[in-house]
Amino acid sequence: MAAENDTLRMVLLGPPGAGKGTQAPNLVNKFGACHLSTGDMLRSQISKKTELGLQAKKIMDAGGLISDDIMVGMIKGELENNPACKKGFILDGFPRTIPQAEKLDAMLAEKNIPLQKALELKVDDELLVARITGRLVHPASGRSYHKLFNPPKVPGKDDVTGEPLVQRSDDNADALKKRLATYHKQTEPIVKYYQKTGVWAAVDASQNPKNVWSDILKCLGQ
Ligand code: AP5
Repeated sequence: MAAENDTLRMVLLGPPGAGKGTQAPNLVNKFGACHLSTGDMLRSQISKKTELGLQAKKIMDAGGLISDDIMVGMIKGELENNPACKKGFILDGFPRTIPQAEKLDAMLAEKNIPLQKALELKVDDELLVARITGRLVHPASGRSYHKLFNPPKVPGKDDVTGEPLVQRSDDNADALKKRLATYHKQTEPIVKYYQKTGVWAAVDASQNPKNVWSDILKCLGQ
Protein backbone atom coordinates (compact mmCIF):
# COMPACT_ATOMS: atom_id res chain seq x y z
CA MET A 1 0.00 0.00 0.00
CA ALA A 2 1.13 3.57 -0.62
CA ALA A 3 2.93 5.26 2.21
CA GLU A 4 3.90 8.57 0.62
CA ASN A 5 1.82 11.70 1.20
CA ASP A 6 1.69 12.69 -2.47
CA THR A 7 -0.27 9.62 -3.61
CA LEU A 8 -4.00 9.56 -4.31
CA ARG A 9 -6.15 7.47 -1.97
CA MET A 10 -9.79 7.87 -2.78
CA VAL A 11 -13.24 6.32 -3.01
CA LEU A 12 -15.70 6.93 -5.86
CA LEU A 13 -19.32 6.85 -4.66
CA GLY A 14 -22.47 6.98 -6.74
CA PRO A 15 -25.48 5.00 -7.93
CA PRO A 16 -25.31 2.43 -10.74
CA GLY A 17 -24.54 4.32 -13.96
CA ALA A 18 -23.25 7.46 -12.22
CA GLY A 19 -19.99 7.20 -14.17
CA LYS A 20 -17.60 5.63 -11.62
CA GLY A 21 -16.17 3.18 -14.16
CA THR A 22 -16.04 5.90 -16.83
CA GLN A 23 -14.08 8.41 -14.73
CA ALA A 24 -11.78 5.97 -12.88
CA PRO A 25 -9.43 5.43 -15.90
CA ASN A 26 -8.96 9.23 -16.13
CA LEU A 27 -7.87 9.24 -12.49
CA VAL A 28 -5.50 6.32 -13.10
CA ASN A 29 -3.94 8.10 -16.10
CA LYS A 30 -3.52 11.33 -14.19
CA PHE A 31 -2.35 10.03 -10.80
CA GLY A 32 -0.92 6.56 -11.50
CA ALA A 33 -2.92 4.95 -8.67
CA CYS A 34 -4.52 1.50 -9.00
CA HIS A 35 -8.22 1.20 -9.89
CA LEU A 36 -10.00 -1.42 -7.79
CA SER A 37 -13.56 -2.09 -8.99
CA THR A 38 -15.26 -4.66 -6.76
CA GLY A 39 -17.90 -5.20 -9.48
CA ASP A 40 -15.15 -6.08 -12.00
CA MET A 41 -13.49 -8.40 -9.46
CA LEU A 42 -16.77 -10.24 -8.92
CA ARG A 43 -17.43 -10.47 -12.68
CA SER A 44 -13.96 -11.96 -13.10
CA GLN A 45 -14.91 -14.67 -10.54
CA ILE A 46 -18.13 -15.26 -12.50
CA SER A 47 -16.29 -15.69 -15.79
CA LYS A 48 -13.86 -18.15 -14.12
CA LYS A 49 -16.93 -20.03 -12.77
CA THR A 50 -15.51 -20.14 -9.22
CA GLU A 51 -17.75 -21.05 -6.25
CA LEU A 52 -17.80 -17.37 -5.23
CA GLY A 53 -18.62 -16.36 -8.81
CA LEU A 54 -21.57 -18.76 -8.99
CA GLN A 55 -23.00 -17.44 -5.69
CA ALA A 56 -22.27 -13.80 -6.57
CA LYS A 57 -23.99 -13.92 -9.97
CA LYS A 58 -27.35 -14.78 -8.41
CA ILE A 59 -27.05 -11.91 -5.91
CA MET A 60 -25.83 -9.39 -8.52
CA ASP A 61 -28.57 -10.23 -11.01
CA ALA A 62 -31.11 -9.76 -8.21
CA GLY A 63 -29.63 -6.34 -7.35
CA GLY A 64 -28.44 -7.37 -3.87
CA LEU A 65 -25.06 -7.12 -2.15
CA ILE A 66 -22.35 -9.72 -1.51
CA SER A 67 -21.41 -10.13 2.17
CA ASP A 68 -19.24 -7.48 3.82
CA ASP A 69 -16.63 -10.02 4.98
CA ILE A 70 -16.02 -11.30 1.45
CA MET A 71 -15.77 -7.80 -0.02
CA VAL A 72 -13.50 -6.45 2.74
CA GLY A 73 -11.23 -9.49 2.33
CA MET A 74 -11.01 -8.88 -1.43
CA ILE A 75 -10.05 -5.22 -1.06
CA LYS A 76 -7.58 -5.93 1.76
CA GLY A 77 -5.85 -8.55 -0.38
CA GLU A 78 -5.49 -6.14 -3.32
CA LEU A 79 -4.32 -3.17 -1.24
CA GLU A 80 -1.68 -5.27 0.48
CA ASN A 81 -0.47 -7.37 -2.44
CA ASN A 82 -1.12 -5.51 -5.70
CA PRO A 83 2.11 -3.63 -6.60
CA ALA A 84 0.07 -1.08 -8.63
CA CYS A 85 -1.51 0.09 -5.34
CA LYS A 86 1.84 1.33 -4.02
CA LYS A 87 1.07 4.60 -5.86
CA GLY A 88 -2.34 4.94 -4.19
CA PHE A 89 -5.78 3.63 -5.05
CA ILE A 90 -9.14 4.53 -6.51
CA LEU A 91 -11.89 2.36 -5.04
CA ASP A 92 -14.95 1.98 -7.30
CA GLY A 93 -17.98 0.16 -5.84
CA PHE A 94 -16.38 -0.16 -2.39
CA PRO A 95 -17.34 0.61 0.32
CA ARG A 96 -21.03 -0.05 -0.23
CA THR A 97 -22.20 -0.35 3.39
CA ILE A 98 -21.29 1.43 6.62
CA PRO A 99 -19.49 -1.67 7.99
CA GLN A 100 -17.37 -1.76 4.79
CA ALA A 101 -16.51 1.96 5.23
CA GLU A 102 -15.57 1.42 8.89
CA LYS A 103 -13.41 -1.59 8.08
CA LEU A 104 -11.65 0.31 5.29
CA ASP A 105 -10.86 3.19 7.66
CA ALA A 106 -9.54 0.75 10.27
CA MET A 107 -7.37 -0.98 7.64
CA LEU A 108 -5.91 2.36 6.48
CA ALA A 109 -5.45 3.69 10.03
CA GLU A 110 -3.34 0.63 10.84
CA LYS A 111 -0.97 1.60 7.99
CA ASN A 112 -1.16 5.33 8.77
CA ILE A 113 -2.39 6.14 5.26
CA PRO A 114 -5.82 7.74 5.74
CA LEU A 115 -8.34 8.16 2.95
CA GLN A 116 -7.96 11.57 1.27
CA LYS A 117 -11.25 11.89 -0.60
CA ALA A 118 -14.64 10.22 -0.93
CA LEU A 119 -16.05 11.70 -4.11
CA GLU A 120 -19.76 11.34 -4.73
CA LEU A 121 -20.98 11.38 -8.34
CA LYS A 122 -24.50 12.77 -8.03
CA VAL A 123 -27.15 11.92 -10.64
CA ASP A 124 -30.94 11.70 -10.40
CA ASP A 125 -32.36 8.18 -10.78
CA GLU A 126 -34.38 9.09 -13.91
CA LEU A 127 -31.19 9.66 -15.95
CA LEU A 128 -29.72 6.30 -15.05
CA VAL A 129 -32.10 4.01 -16.95
CA ALA A 130 -30.90 5.24 -20.36
CA ARG A 131 -27.27 5.07 -19.26
CA ILE A 132 -27.51 1.51 -17.95
CA THR A 133 -29.61 -0.01 -20.73
CA GLY A 134 -27.29 1.48 -23.42
CA ARG A 135 -24.03 0.49 -21.75
CA LEU A 136 -21.53 -1.87 -23.39
CA VAL A 137 -18.45 -3.15 -21.56
CA HIS A 138 -15.13 -4.77 -22.42
CA PRO A 139 -15.00 -7.57 -19.82
CA ALA A 140 -11.21 -8.04 -19.75
CA SER A 141 -10.37 -4.39 -18.97
CA GLY A 142 -13.64 -3.13 -17.47
CA ARG A 143 -13.73 -0.31 -20.05
CA SER A 144 -17.23 1.04 -20.38
CA TYR A 145 -18.97 2.55 -23.44
CA HIS A 146 -22.48 3.71 -24.32
CA LYS A 147 -24.33 3.09 -27.59
CA LEU A 148 -25.29 6.81 -27.81
CA PHE A 149 -23.43 8.82 -25.14
CA ASN A 150 -19.96 7.31 -25.49
CA PRO A 151 -19.88 5.02 -28.56
CA PRO A 152 -16.80 2.93 -29.40
CA LYS A 153 -14.90 3.90 -32.59
CA VAL A 154 -16.08 0.66 -34.28
CA PRO A 155 -19.61 -0.42 -33.24
CA GLY A 156 -19.51 -3.36 -30.80
CA LYS A 157 -15.68 -3.41 -30.54
CA ASP A 158 -13.31 -2.27 -27.77
CA ASP A 159 -11.25 0.78 -28.89
CA VAL A 160 -7.96 -0.60 -27.54
CA THR A 161 -8.07 -4.34 -28.30
CA GLY A 162 -10.79 -4.60 -30.97
CA GLU A 163 -12.38 -7.37 -28.90
CA PRO A 164 -16.19 -7.68 -28.73
CA LEU A 165 -18.15 -5.59 -26.23
CA VAL A 166 -20.95 -7.16 -24.20
CA GLN A 167 -23.96 -6.09 -22.16
CA ARG A 168 -23.86 -6.96 -18.42
CA SER A 169 -26.54 -9.42 -17.27
CA ASP A 170 -27.63 -6.96 -14.53
CA ASP A 171 -27.96 -4.06 -17.01
CA ASN A 172 -31.71 -4.19 -17.59
CA ALA A 173 -34.53 -1.97 -16.31
CA ASP A 174 -35.81 -4.55 -13.78
CA ALA A 175 -32.46 -5.28 -12.15
CA LEU A 176 -31.62 -1.56 -12.17
CA LYS A 177 -34.73 -0.78 -10.11
CA LYS A 178 -33.52 -3.23 -7.45
CA ARG A 179 -29.90 -1.98 -7.63
CA LEU A 180 -31.10 1.60 -7.11
CA ALA A 181 -33.26 0.60 -4.14
CA THR A 182 -30.24 -1.19 -2.61
CA TYR A 183 -28.06 1.87 -3.29
CA HIS A 184 -30.43 4.29 -1.54
CA LYS A 185 -30.97 2.00 1.43
CA GLN A 186 -27.50 0.57 2.06
CA THR A 187 -24.92 2.72 0.27
CA GLU A 188 -26.19 6.30 0.40
CA PRO A 189 -25.80 6.47 4.24
CA ILE A 190 -22.05 6.31 3.58
CA VAL A 191 -22.25 9.91 2.32
CA LYS A 192 -23.10 11.10 5.84
CA TYR A 193 -20.36 8.87 7.27
CA TYR A 194 -17.74 10.56 5.05
CA GLN A 195 -19.20 14.00 5.67
CA LYS A 196 -18.49 13.40 9.36
CA THR A 197 -14.94 12.17 8.75
CA GLY A 198 -14.34 15.27 6.57
CA VAL A 199 -13.23 13.64 3.30
CA TRP A 200 -16.52 13.93 1.33
CA ALA A 201 -16.96 16.04 -1.81
CA ALA A 202 -19.53 15.84 -4.62
CA VAL A 203 -19.73 16.64 -8.33
CA ASP A 204 -22.74 16.97 -10.62
CA ALA A 205 -22.40 13.78 -12.71
CA SER A 206 -25.43 14.51 -14.90
CA GLN A 207 -23.24 16.74 -17.10
CA ASN A 208 -21.32 15.37 -20.09
CA PRO A 209 -18.31 13.20 -19.12
CA LYS A 210 -15.71 15.89 -19.99
CA ASN A 211 -17.32 18.42 -17.63
CA VAL A 212 -17.65 15.77 -14.93
CA TRP A 213 -13.91 15.09 -15.27
CA SER A 214 -12.99 18.76 -15.04
CA ASP A 215 -15.14 19.12 -11.89
CA ILE A 216 -13.44 16.06 -10.40
CA LEU A 217 -10.04 17.68 -10.98
CA LYS A 218 -11.25 20.86 -9.26
CA CYS A 219 -12.42 18.80 -6.26
CA LEU A 220 -8.96 17.27 -6.08
CA GLY A 221 -7.38 20.72 -6.11
CA GLN A 222 -6.00 20.39 -9.67
P1 AP5 B 1 -20.70 -2.57 -9.85
O1 AP5 B 1 -20.05 -3.19 -11.01
O2 AP5 B 1 -19.89 -1.76 -8.89
O3 AP5 B 1 -21.97 -1.75 -10.39
P2 AP5 B 1 -22.65 -0.38 -9.95
O4 AP5 B 1 -22.20 0.26 -8.68
O5 AP5 B 1 -24.10 -0.68 -10.05
O6 AP5 B 1 -22.10 0.64 -10.90
P3 AP5 B 1 -22.04 0.53 -12.44
O7 AP5 B 1 -20.81 -0.19 -12.86
O8 AP5 B 1 -23.35 0.01 -12.97
O9 AP5 B 1 -21.99 2.08 -12.83
P4 AP5 B 1 -20.82 3.11 -13.03
O10 AP5 B 1 -21.03 4.22 -12.05
O11 AP5 B 1 -19.46 2.47 -13.05
O12 AP5 B 1 -21.21 3.63 -14.47
P5 AP5 B 1 -20.38 3.70 -15.84
O13 AP5 B 1 -19.19 4.59 -15.69
O14 AP5 B 1 -20.15 2.34 -16.42
O15 AP5 B 1 -21.42 -3.69 -8.95
C1 AP5 B 1 -22.24 -4.69 -9.53
C2 AP5 B 1 -22.79 -5.59 -8.42
O16 AP5 B 1 -21.71 -6.25 -7.73
C3 AP5 B 1 -23.57 -4.88 -7.30
O17 AP5 B 1 -24.93 -4.67 -7.68
C4 AP5 B 1 -23.42 -5.87 -6.14
O18 AP5 B 1 -24.29 -6.96 -6.28
C5 AP5 B 1 -22.00 -6.40 -6.33
N1 AP5 B 1 -21.00 -5.63 -5.55
C6 AP5 B 1 -20.02 -4.84 -6.08
N2 AP5 B 1 -19.30 -4.27 -5.12
C7 AP5 B 1 -19.82 -4.69 -3.94
C8 AP5 B 1 -19.53 -4.41 -2.57
N3 AP5 B 1 -18.53 -3.58 -2.23
N4 AP5 B 1 -20.29 -5.00 -1.62
C9 AP5 B 1 -21.29 -5.85 -1.94
N5 AP5 B 1 -21.63 -6.15 -3.22
C10 AP5 B 1 -20.90 -5.57 -4.21
O19 AP5 B 1 -21.46 4.48 -16.73
C11 AP5 B 1 -22.69 3.88 -17.09
C12 AP5 B 1 -23.04 4.20 -18.55
O20 AP5 B 1 -23.29 5.61 -18.68
C13 AP5 B 1 -21.91 3.88 -19.54
O21 AP5 B 1 -22.47 3.38 -20.71
C14 AP5 B 1 -21.21 5.24 -19.77
O22 AP5 B 1 -20.64 5.31 -21.07
C15 AP5 B 1 -22.36 6.22 -19.60
N6 AP5 B 1 -21.94 7.47 -18.96
C16 AP5 B 1 -21.03 7.62 -17.96
N7 AP5 B 1 -20.93 8.92 -17.62
C17 AP5 B 1 -21.80 9.60 -18.42
C18 AP5 B 1 -22.16 10.98 -18.54
N8 AP5 B 1 -21.59 11.92 -17.76
N9 AP5 B 1 -23.10 11.31 -19.46
C19 AP5 B 1 -23.69 10.36 -20.25
N10 AP5 B 1 -23.38 9.04 -20.19
C20 AP5 B 1 -22.46 8.66 -19.27
